[in-house]
Amino acid sequence: MVVTLPRIALLTGALGQYILLREMRQHDPARRMLLRQSIAIAGAAVLGGASGCTLTATVRGADAGPPSSDPHPALGRTLTRIGFGSCANEGKSQPVWDAILARQSDLFMFLGDNIYGDTRDMAVLRAKYAQFAAQSGFARLRETTPVVAIWDDHDFGENDAGGDYPMKEETRRIFLDFWNEPSGSPRRDRDGVYASYVFGPPGKRVQVILPDLRYNRTPLLKLDLAGADYETWARARLAAGLPVPGPYARNPDLKATMLGERQWHWLERQLEVPADLRLIGSSLQVLADFTGWEAWVTYPRDHQRLIDLIRRKNANGVVFLSGDIHYAELSKLDVNVPYTLWDLTSSGLTEEWPVPTPNANRMSEVLPEANFGFIDIDWQGPSTRLTLGIVDAAGKTRMSWDVELASLAGGGRQT
Ligand SMILES: [Fe+2]
Repeated sequence: MVVTLPRIALLTGALGQYILLREMRQHDPARRMLLRQSIAIAGAAVLGGASGCTLTATVRGADAGPPSSDPHPALGRTLTRIGFGSCANEGKSQPVWDAILARQSDLFMFLGDNIYGDTRDMAVLRAKYAQFAAQSGFARLRETTPVVAIWDDHDFGENDAGGDYPMKEETRRIFLDFWNEPSGSPRRDRDGVYASYVFGPPGKRVQVILPDLRYNRTPLLKLDLAGADYETWARARLAAGLPVPGPYARNPDLKATMLGERQWHWLERQLEVPADLRLIGSSLQVLADFTGWEAWVTYPRDHQRLIDLIRRKNANGVVFLSGDIHYAELSKLDVNVPYTLWDLTSSGLTEEWPVPTPNANRMSEVLPEANFGFIDIDWQGPSTRLTLGIVDAAGKTRMSWDVELASLAGGGRQT
C-alpha cells in the first residue's frame, strides 16, 4: 500500500478536549450521557420515492443452493467508481450531495444511519424516510446512480438498538420498501436486511457484501465505571489527559454476537463466491480497536470469526468499508490475518463528531467533517489498482491511498 497523505493527526490535545467539553455543555442530558446521540426531526409527509426497478439476474435462496447475487438492476455493470457514506440526518441541510453527484459513481453504498428514525412509531419512521426522499441531492442521486443500502441503529429503530428492539420486523419491511427491494427478492425472507451482490464480468467482478449488525444482535456490555455515570467518568478522563473511549466493553460472552448463526452461515456461502474484489460494507467499524463505542471488536468472537472465515475460505480481495462514528479515518490490521486488511470509515454525510476516540489500528488522520468515501478501480494495465479516499462536502479529496489488488490475497487455505 502506498500512503499518499500519510499524516497522523489525532485531535486528542487541548483543542479536542475544549471542543468535547463545549459539546457536553451544549447538548441535552441524553446527548451528554452518551456523548454522540443524534437528534432526528420528524417530518409530516408519507413514505414515498419508491421507483420501480428491473431485475437482471436470476437469484437463489439466502442460505440454500449455490450462492449467487441478490437482485440489482446494475449487476451487469463493470464498476470503476464506487462511492459510499453513512449517517445522514434527514432533518438537516445535506449539501454533501453535490460533491457526491459530481463524482458520477457507478454505485453508491449507504452504510447505515441513512435516516435518524429513533422511534417505535412507524408513522414517524415513514415520515422521516419521506423527508429523506425529498432531499433534492439524494433524489438526484437515486435518479442517476445505482445504490445499495444497509442499516445501522438509527434507521433500524433506536440508538444502539439490537435484536430486542420490538419493532424490527416493521422497520425491516419499511427499509426494504424504501430501498426498492423487489417483492420476490430472497432478501425479504431473511432474519435481517443483509445482502450480497456481484457486479461486473469475470475478471472484473466486484462483490458487495452488506451484513446486518442489528436484527440479531445480543445485548451490549457496558463498561464497569465503578458506579460513576458515563459523563462524570468521561470528564474525569479528559481532565487527567487520558483518551476517552465510549461506554461499552468487549463482550466476552461466548454467545454474544451481532450476526446470529443463520447470517453467519449465509456469510460463509458468500465468501465462496468467485470475485476479484470484495467490498464488505459494514455499518460499524470492523478494524478500529478499541473505541468503546459499538464496533466489531465489542463482539470479539464475531470479530475473530470474520477474520478466520476470510482465511478459511481463502477469500481474496477483501476491503472493509464502514460508517457510524461521525468522522472519517483509515484502519489497518496486519497481525494474525491472512493478508493486510484495511477498513476505510466514512461518516457522516451530515453528522460530525469533533473528538475521535482511541483506535490502535488507525493509520490516517481523522476528518471530523461531513464527508463521503470512494474506491476507484483501475482495471487496466498488468495489475489492478485501487484508490481509496475521503472527500469533503466541498468536493475536495482530503485523504487517499493506493492499494494493489494483488496485495489482498494469500495466507489462506481451502477447506
Ligand atoms: Fe450508528
